[in-house]
Order: sequence, then structure tokens, then C-alpha cells
Amino acid sequence: MHQRILIISIILLLLLLLFEITMTKTPPMSPPDLPCKVRLLLSLLTIVINTVRRSNGTINRRLMSLFDLKASPSSKPNNRVKTSDVMVDPTRNLWFRLYVPAAAITTSTTSPSAKLPLIIYFHGGGFAFFSANSKPYDDLCKRLSAELPAVVVSVNYRLAPEHIYPSQYEDGFDVLKFIDQTTIDGFDLNNVDITRCFLAGDSAGGNLAHHVAVKASNHHEFGKMRVVGLIAIQPFFGGKERTESETRLSKGSALSLEQTDWYWKTFLPEGSDRDHAAANVFGQESKDVFGVNFPATIVFVGGFDLLQDWQRRYYEGLKKSGKEAYLIEYPNSFHGFYAFPELKEPSFLVKEVRDFIDKLCYAPSGISF
Ligand SMILES: *[C@@H]1O[C@H](CO)[C@@H](O)[C@H](O)[C@H]1NC(C)=O
Repeated sequence: MHQRILIISIILLLLLLLFEITMTKTPPMSPPDLPCKVRLLLSLLTIVINTVRRSNGTINRRLMSLFDLKASPSSKPNNRVKTSDVMVDPTRNLWFRLYVPAAAITTSTTSPSAKLPLIIYFHGGGFAFFSANSKPYDDLCKRLSAELPAVVVSVNYRLAPEHIYPSQYEDGFDVLKFIDQTTIDGFDLNNVDITRCFLAGDSAGGNLAHHVAVKASNHHEFGKMRVVGLIAIQPFFGGKERTESETRLSKGSALSLEQTDWYWKTFLPEGSDRDHAAANVFGQESKDVFGVNFPATIVFVGGFDLLQDWQRRYYEGLKKSGKEAYLIEYPNSFHGFYAFPELKEPSFLVKEVRDFIDKLCYAPSGISF
């Protein structure tokens, strides 16, 4: 208990110090005109992530848990969305949080065009941090569910370094199979159309969504489920080569090159490097053949994100492979901007995702249902 008080005092002191620093000078690698609260939170996040990562490649989970605030599920529509947690496999604590918007609850119908699309969401955090019930991700999924609207499944996959590649990809894919095969409480097939399923994720979650999509388009016959779209929000890709944006923004305010190197090192198998196919998806080691059913993809890129060059290459690689792909750029956005609803870009993102879903589900020339 004393330890906790001590830690909280230190945090408060740090916050004061941070406030001083962030108010007196803006780091050159941050977008201009960021609200003071956002700058403060970004600085705090950087300090926390850099403190809990140990030099021997492990994470101080106890310290991290003080900062990684969790949200409980809520069976009463809170913010127009009902949430519940569904266990998939207790032996590896694989579960997901289900978001059902009031729109689905009130307009129960058997007309297929009135059913909501399903979004399977993978949270970010370098494969190592956060969970489906982390407050910022709970807020984001609630917002997506209410505003699109859509039924959202947010996957609580295992984390590195305790579980390395390919545990996260297996967990993601197993959730798809589970939803395809299982009758789930609160998941009413009269309200949600699993033939219109979208995979989505930010940062490492965007990487995960991609690899799960590759697997889904290739190696598996689903019963009813069809993956029609992939929403990659600032996806985490990389390679041995240093790109221009990695060099220029190496000390970015929300994500640094030192951090991305550390994430790859803890996630990838011993003896591999950043050209591993998990990171460099269009590199030499990548043997993934995208199935003919690889979904249409929308990629979101921020002008202050050091990962932007890899993300543009991803988009270009998809186009070259003959896939339907869209690139959306927000010049003033840093890595993780969607966690800050006070900015305007998260609203643009929701609108863009809604248009993407409409295009794939409702366009006259689109997929028939
Ligand atoms: C890493 O360091 C921490 C703290 O110093 C220690 O508790 C842990 O056992 C170490 N782990 C490994 C795998 O060396």
C-alpha cells in the first residue's frame, strides 16, 4: 500500500514536470497546435512505455497495470452500446468484448439489408501492450459501434514477450472460426450479418488484421462468415531497411524508432530480423500468397508517423497484387491519433470507414447478398 502511494506521488511529480516541459517547448517532431491535454498524455505515455520495458526484453506488467486503465462491460446500453465479454478458450485466456449498438437492439429485423455489418477489431500496442478492455480501446470500439453503426468484436489476444509470433495471429484466426461456428449469447444473427465481416485494427492490430485476412482468404472454408473488408489504421509493418520517414521521425512524440525495434525484437522468433514475413509483408521472405478472396483494404496514414513509408508501400503492394485498396492520409496526425476524441481526425476516420463499409456492402455493383 505504501508503495502504491509512493508511486502515485512520483507520478504526480512527473506530471507537474511534464506540464512544465510541454508548455515551454513543443518537440520538433510533433504536429503543431496539439491541445495541451493531448501533448501531456503523449509525453506521459512515452515515459510509461519506456519505463516498463526492461532491457532484458521483459515488461514490468505490475507497473504498467497502474497506467493501463480498464473498462468493465456494461449490459445496460451505455453510450448507445451494450457490451459483454465472451470467452473463446480459457486455457490461453482468449476472449473478446462484444459491442452491440442500440440500433441493432431496437430494429430487430429479418430483412438482410437492415442487418448490421460485423467488425472484428484488433487493438494496438506493439503486440505487447493493452487489452480489449483497456479504456482507450473500449472507448474507440464503442464509438465505432454506435456511429457506423456495426456490431464490433474486440479480440483479447495474447501478448509478447510472454507469447511471441505467431500466437497473436493464431488467436485472431481462432476468434473468426469461433464466431463462424458457435452460437453466442447476445450475438443475434437476426441483427448482424456475418457474410459482411470486416477485419480492423490499429498499429500492431492493423498488422494482425492483415495476417488474419491472408489466412482467411487462403486456408480456410468458413460456414457462413465472409471477410469483405480490411481496415488498417496506421498498421505496424517494417523491415531491415531504414525508410526516409523512419529516419526523419525517429524520435517521434508518440512512437520512436527505438520502440518499434524493441517491439519487433520481442515479437519475432529468435534468430529472425525485421525482414521476417510478419513485418515486411512485401519483402523477400514473404511467401504469403493472397487468396482470391483477399478483402478490399483501406489504409490510414498519418504525416507525423514514422511508420508512414511502410504503410504506403503496403498500400502500393496491394495495388500491384491487383487488390482493391484505398489510401487515406491525414498530414497532421501522429501515431495513435484515434485515441484522442478531442482531435478532428478521429471523426474523419469514422466517416471514412462508414463510406468504405457502404461502398462494399450497399453499392449497386458490390457484393450481392
Ligand atoms: C528481467 O529483469 C527483471 C527485473 O530485473 C527480472 O525480474 C526478470 O526475471 C528478468 N527476466 C529475464 C528473462 O531475464
